Amino acid sequence: MAAPGPPTPPDVPMPLPEPNPLPELIRLKRDGGRLDEADVRGFVRAVVDGRAQGAQIGAMLMAIRLRGMDTEETAALTRALAESGQQLEWPEAWQGQIVDKHSTGGVGDKVSLVLAPALAACGCKVPMISGRGLGHTGGTLDKLESIPGFTAIQSPEQMRRLLEQVGCCIVGQSKKLVPADGILYAARDVTATVDSLPLITASILSKKSVERLSALVVDVKFGEAAVLPSQAQARELAAALVGVGTGLGLRVAAALTAMDNPLGRSVGHTLEVEEALLCLDGAGPPDLRDLVTRLGGALLWLNRQVETQAKGAAWVAATLDDGSARGRFEQMLEAQGVDPGLARALCSGTPARRRELLPRARQQEELCAPADGTVELLRALPLAQVLRDLGAGRNRAGQSIRPGVGAELLVGVGQRLRRGAPWVRVHLDGPALSIPQRRILQGALVLSDRAPFAAPSPFAELVLPPTGGPTDTQK
Ligand code: URA
Repeated sequence: MAAPGPPTPPDVPMPLPEPNPLPELIRLKRDGGRLDEADVRGFVRAVVDGRAQGAQIGAMLMAIRLRGMDTEETAALTRALAESGQQLEWPEAWQGQIVDKHSTGGVGDKVSLVLAPALAACGCKVPMISGRGLGHTGGTLDKLESIPGFTAIQSPEQMRRLLEQVGCCIVGQSKKLVPADGILYAARDVTATVDSLPLITASILSKKSVERLSALVVDVKFGEAAVLPSQAQARELAAALVGVGTGLGLRVAAALTAMDNPLGRSVGHTLEVEEALLCLDGAGPPDLRDLVTRLGGALLWLNRQVETQAKGAAWVAATLDDGSARGRFEQMLEAQGVDPGLARALCSGTPARRRELLPRARQQEELCAPADGTVELLRALPLAQVLRDLGAGRNRAGQSIRPGVGAELLVGVGQRLRRGAPWVRVHLDGPALSIPQRRILQGALVLSDRAPFAAPSPFAELVLPPTGGPTDTQK
């Protein structure tokens, strides 16, 4: 019989068990095993303190992408990512006012630029921690950073000041805020592991749980240009976001929205800022306004500020029409580093003046319709892929982007088009479009013989927590 060891002195804490070495953890997940809380924390700690090599991070991400994670593992990953940095603290008086929306990523999706200030104008506090472009989709932070002077990196103390002064801010994760997500997010982009349900769920909810929200709406895109193309997969992701989020104490709903056509008429960073400003003028493309008001309406309803989603949508629409949302946007730009004169000129200028103030691509090329027809579809995926190759997106982590590169759609879905009429204007910096690029772009225009029709709303359905919304009958 082994001699008993020396008793542990009562005031000395028991040492934490040594985490499994990384190759063991990777092997476990690779072979379809479960990672427990300590395993997940061990991996995330190694990612943040630099012990995990790039190859190990990529291998673990791929193992998770292929083997999946159950609800507890996903919740453990969410907690570990959230706790890799500082938690945000807000004054007691803000309880019940702190809300946010997040998107899984789309082409032409500039909703956050409009919705954050609109919600601030409705009296909410919106501490939005947003992302950069992932895959072929654009990133909110990249769009805002195309405005000279805009600073996405803000400390927790600066965020608090921004919420006090303006009511909203849009910031990036940083060394202080969810640093582990920043590292994994960039690694996913270059390891074909973007489209993993548990990785998307943990990435989004970790940022949101740090924000200490009272309500969150996630815009889960589906369609050819979404990270998850099928509506069934998107519904699965929505269920995971709502289930894991509810388990973590968040009041969260997920909107399923279509992403086959780009949202709005503009794709590319400065072009999208211009279109967001149009929406903040109370104008702009109807599908963008529709999504902004419906997501905002759902959020205000979920947060019990209005009795029905329709009333919430009408409130958001009113802030666009009376200029109060645009006023908050101007304040936010100024508070996040944009010269006050530029912020004012952008927000009060004409569309032509705005274009002069923002970085522009060197040249433009228009493509014309090859036949008469009604526009059935403007396929966002090939459009975004060509634009990414022209410099509007990244092919590897950290690559710089060309803010002025993008495309303006000159027609909308459901409209009649005559052969030879221009349908898209491409803004580009480099040489003229190549023949293969022109061919791919022309493939994005899908025409039919149908009579012209009204384009449907991208908003498909709202997935609520198991307990339902504030009152299930009042949607
Ligand atoms: N947004 C995020 O923050 N993470 C994802 O994985 C996808 C969208």
